[in-house]
Amino acid sequence: MDKDIVLEIKNLSKSFAQNKVLDGINLTVRKGVVLGLMGENGAGKSTMMKCLFGIYTRDEGQIMLYGRPVEFKNPKEALENGVAMVHQELNQCLDRSIVDNLFLGRYPKRFGVVDEARMLKESIRLFSSLKMNINPRTIMRTMSVSQRQMVEIAKAVSYDARIIVLDEPTSSLTEREVKKLFSIIESLKKKGVSFVYISHKIDEVFEICDETAVLRDGKMIFSKPTKETTVNEVISAMVGRSLDKRYPEVDNIPGEPYMEVRNLTTKYEPVLEDISFTVRKGEIFGIYGLVGAGRSELLESLFGIRTIASGEIILGGRSLRFRNSRDAMEYNFALVTEERKLNGMFGKDTIKFNTTITNLEGYKTFNILSERKMFDATTREIGRMNTKCTSPDQLISALSGGNQQKVIIGKWLEREPEIFLMDEPTRGIDVGAKYEIYQLIIKMAKEGKTVIMVSSEMPEILGVTNRIAVMSNCRLSGVVDTKATDQEDLLRLSAKYL
Ligand SMILES: Nc1ncnc2c1ncn2[C@@H]1O[C@H](COP(=O)(O)OP(=O)(O)OP(=O)(O)O)[C@@H](O)[C@H]1O
Ligand SMILES: [Mg+2]
Repeated sequence: MDKDIVLEIKNLSKSFAQNKVLDGINLTVRKGVVLGLMGENGAGKSTMMKCLFGIYTRDEGQIMLYGRPVEFKNPKEALENGVAMVHQELNQCLDRSIVDNLFLGRYPKRFGVVDEARMLKESIRLFSSLKMNINPRTIMRTMSVSQRQMVEIAKAVSYDARIIVLDEPTSSLTEREVKKLFSIIESLKKKGVSFVYISHKIDEVFEICDETAVLRDGKMIFSKPTKETTVNEVISAMVGRSLDKRYPEVDNIPGEPYMEVRNLTTKYEPVLEDISFTVRKGEIFGIYGLVGAGRSELLESLFGIRTIASGEIILGGRSLRFRNSRDAMEYNFALVTEERKLNGMFGKDTIKFNTTITNLEGYKTFNILSERKMFDATTREIGRMNTKCTSPDQLISALSGGNQQKVIIGKWLEREPEIFLMDEPTRGIDVGAKYEIYQLIIKMAKEGKTVIMVSSEMPEILGVTNRIAVMSNCRLSGVVDTKATDQEDLLRLSAKYL
């Protein structure tokens, strides 16, 4: 047998009830190789890895590690055998420090007590070896999602793993952090560590992965050296058809000035300073900026979540005073948040519950909630968003990450908002579904709805908006016409107040 083969998955199958999610999967991972795993939302990528880690039990198939069959009962056992995973949805103890999170479940002991000094020393050594500038005493909650993601990656490294599975590791990393991650991957590769890299970002896969595998509807379409494939081939293999354009034509015509933000300044850190702009009715208005520039905070202030110290939000000539999100909803504002698991989703409930929860008034007949209406509404949104699920009564936690996001967007569409605030609406969503969301945004704009969307992806913000506001260090550094601008302009403006 080939001694370079580290991990081999043979004929792996898995069903949830009647739903066959993985169908006879074969995959080989070699020493020191980064294997990119791509596929649409719900294709089975995360499930495949969860079968490897014993989070799910497989129905059929074999998993071989260094030529020997293995059967991990849980992720801890996998870790002890040198196989680590960084999950798509982070699962951290937010009220504890980085050190605690790094050592969770394996506290070093000295004379029967946890050896805190050693933990701290080892953490410091870990971060400095990864050239990461992080204080290990920091409490998780006070850090950004991207920093938390980096900690999770450092944790995998700290276990001296031989195989590291990264499930959408860069979904919320800044460009600098992505570079950092890539250099960490490169240096570990040289030491013979192998990676399975799950991502929806094709450009990244082509940059960092030696091999590329595509999963569609639970079947492995191909796995081959990245050099031997092309972006178009990967996309066609994923979606089952060719997709010649990444962005639809933005052919809405924005109308009258509609909402004015005048000298908006917020009260608490990070403080937004003196922000003014006007958005038109039926306009797709982008907000660009580096992570930490205050983009999400701006959306939150428009939605009544952040306290405004001074300034005004004027809608149709009236000055609005939102004390909370309920007030904003009264005025037909909707907000899709960036961290869906934390702010947008009821994980223990069904798709139906999650779709109807913000609009219960709309499903009443003579003041009694109508099951029928809620069911129909959910079916409507599943259809509109093309959400992959088995029924409206399925638990939302059983959906793939991207499909959960679609349910959250569908929930807000049910309210038919006039002003739709979207924070990174396509994060974690596959190429085909992204295109559909862009189409939906343009369609809403054509119907006279106003869309304000934050995105970190430059091609996306240039691809689907009418105008773009650029933020820098919690201030507005400019508003540009999308047709008359380019990446360079946006970068220059986003660095204006640094
Ligand atoms: N616990 C579960 N119970 C029932 N069905 C499940 C469960 N976990 C996953 N599934 C189903 O398995 C399929 C594959 O999901 P999986 O999470 O593996 O997709 P994915 O390729 O990782 O997608 P994404 O890119 O959106 O993360 C989906 O149709 C999902 O609904
Ligand atoms: Mg997944």
